[in-house]
Amino acid sequence: MASQELIRKLEETIENVPDFPIPGIQFKDISPIFLDPKLYEDVIADLVAFSKGKVDAVCGIESRGYLFGIAIAVALEVPFILIRKSGKLPPPVISEKYDLEYGSAVIETREGQIKPGQKVLIHDDLLATGGTTEAAAKLVEKQGAIVSQFSFLIGLKDLKGEEKLEKFNAEVYHILK
Ligand code: PRP
Ligand code: MG
Repeated sequence: MASQELIRKLEETIENVPDFPIPGIQFKDISPIFLDPKLYEDVIADLVAFSKGKVDAVCGIESRGYLFGIAIAVALEVPFILIRKSGKLPPPVISEKYDLEYGSAVIETREGQIKPGQKVLIHDDLLATGGTTEAAAKLVEKQGAIVSQFSFLIGLKDLKGEEKLEKFNAEVYHILK
């Protein structure tokens, strides 16, 4: 559970950019977090506390999900698995198509890196419509693993992304709404 201090600091650090990348979308720019190593460390500690002792592997979603996901996995001393946009990973891969807040895309993971029966944390920076995360969770389940947890820096309430995750019966955590 994030402290009020961490929440306040993140709220003042993350930049809200209107009408990017298209009109009507408010972009959350997390890049200023990386200008402040102490803040980054505090974010990682908070996300690690949520998952400590609860998962066997972490899946991070390209690209912003890697910025925190790898650090979480290293701190938990569990494997980190890349979920990438299509065409980046060599075969054999498992693919899943999904709808974005703007457009659609395909994500992939290398077959065999997620092991059957593993309890998996899926991490990304942002939950918006939930399309990306839902596709990632389907990739995990296709490999016989269990989606135990989802974590995000930001979970946008208005877009109802959490509803798409309910069917996985996993814990969901986000530092900011
Ligand atoms: C953004 C964000 C999440 C996703 C959330 O990624 O980082 O991954 O969209 O949207 P959703 O809940 O509606 O699916 P984006 O695809 O823009 O790419 P990036 O992480 O590589 O910047
Ligand atoms: Mg992303």
